[in-house]
Amino acid sequence: MALPFTCGGRADCRRAGTPVASTRLDTQAETGSWISDPEDPALVRASVGISVFGTGAIGLEVSGACRYKAVCFEASRGRMSIPARPQPHPEILKIAAYVGGRSDVAGVSGVVKLSSNENPYGPCHSARQAARAALEDSAVYPSGSHSDLRAAIAEVHGLPAEQIVCGAGSDELISLLCRCYSGPGDDVVFTEHGFSMYRISALAAGATPRAARERDRCLDIDLLAEEFSERTRLVFVANPNNPTGTMVTEEDVRRLADAVPPRAILAIDGAYVEYVDGSDGGASLVLARDNVVMLRTFSKLHGLASLRVGWALAPAAVTDVLNRVRGPFNVTAPGLAAAAAAVRDRAYVTHCRRENARWRDWLFSRLSGPALEIDRSQANFLLLRFGSPGTAQAAYVHLLARGVITRKVDEYGFPHALRATVGDEEGCRRLVHGLDAFWAETT
Ligand SMILES: Cc1ncc(COP(=O)(O)O)c(C=O)c1O
Repeated sequence: MALPFTCGGRADCRRAGTPVASTRLDTQAETGSWISDPEDPALVRASVGISVFGTGAIGLEVSGACRYKAVCFEASRGRMSIPARPQPHPEILKIAAYVGGRSDVAGVSGVVKLSSNENPYGPCHSARQAARAALEDSAVYPSGSHSDLRAAIAEVHGLPAEQIVCGAGSDELISLLCRCYSGPGDDVVFTEHGFSMYRISALAAGATPRAARERDRCLDIDLLAEEFSERTRLVFVANPNNPTGTMVTEEDVRRLADAVPPRAILAIDGAYVEYVDGSDGGASLVLARDNVVMLRTFSKLHGLASLRVGWALAPAAVTDVLNRVRGPFNVTAPGLAAAAAAVRDRAYVTHCRRENARWRDWLFSRLSGPALEIDRSQANFLLLRFGSPGTAQAAYVHLLARGVITRKVDEYGFPHALRATVGDEEGCRRLVHGLDAFWAETT
């Protein structure tokens, strides 16, 4: 049973309102360290970071400067009591689990999935072949050094292979950066409509996520810099951003790199940068600085989302750290082989980029209007902003019934919007027809 407790610099343990012990809390205490009552060390002991509240135990949750610290005290025996069940560190329970894009609708066949920004044309032919061939050797561990894939990326993009780290999707690299470079007492900064894994990974590392305001759904360097402090360890920006599709210039990114505190890493997430003609995604900035990292993925334009391959370009000191912590065989052999083939097929990359731009422009011209506001997107999706959350929800349901699956983006701070991936011709036409029918029914 959870009992009410007071908290602060000096903490009182109360049972049914009666103080039974009090202790001074050392607000500098490290996670896992012990705090004792100075008057009676045996009486109250606290393990910072352990949440309690088991039956028969008195729990004390301390917040504020102490963050989440917990004291556990068993009144009947006057002894410290460790909860009987395993407890995660307290920040974990603040995480709302990631919700992926929906892929089916009960009772509706022939759906078009526009909810996860996948490539509607799939991977290139050579990537499919390479993945199939690699499956034949499934009994053997994959390469732990990822040397072939790193060499392919290095060759195509003109980058040093030794500064590339591969991950099981860029999700893994985001998580590794947070684990390696932030923890309790540290801040991880991103923007208010930033990709949700930044927040999740920061909390999982025990760090404090800080969301900076954007200006008109776009990264604003000055507003972001307002969140910087000596506690800042990581700054994540996706450029183009998901779910807004907006992008800032290379000059802005350079200015941002100048503004980031020296002890912090700026991670430029280029999950969608392949859709932008002529951008290096921040690679030159990484090579020129010692605190900038670029993240890339094979899940979007390369059409390999299910194989889970991402990569980072990072300063040598950072690649060294990430390589120490990542799983030794974190990317599968089919993933490695398919990704190496995909990055080399430049004609397919150009084809997908062009098709995306063509249908993105078409969608924009057919959908945007007074009732549906849309920013110009640089990525493979559009953020459709309806007049109200109710209209967005009604449109979502209407589209679902027609087998067109878009993405609700309430958790990104857009309850009145839906995000729609730019599909192939059929997918785009079904989206437009679905929304035409929606407006016809509701107006
Ligand atoms: C901005 C951004 N970064 C990273 C990712 C993660 O991609 P993956 O883990 O598939 O490489 C996504 C996926 O949607 C994304 O939108």
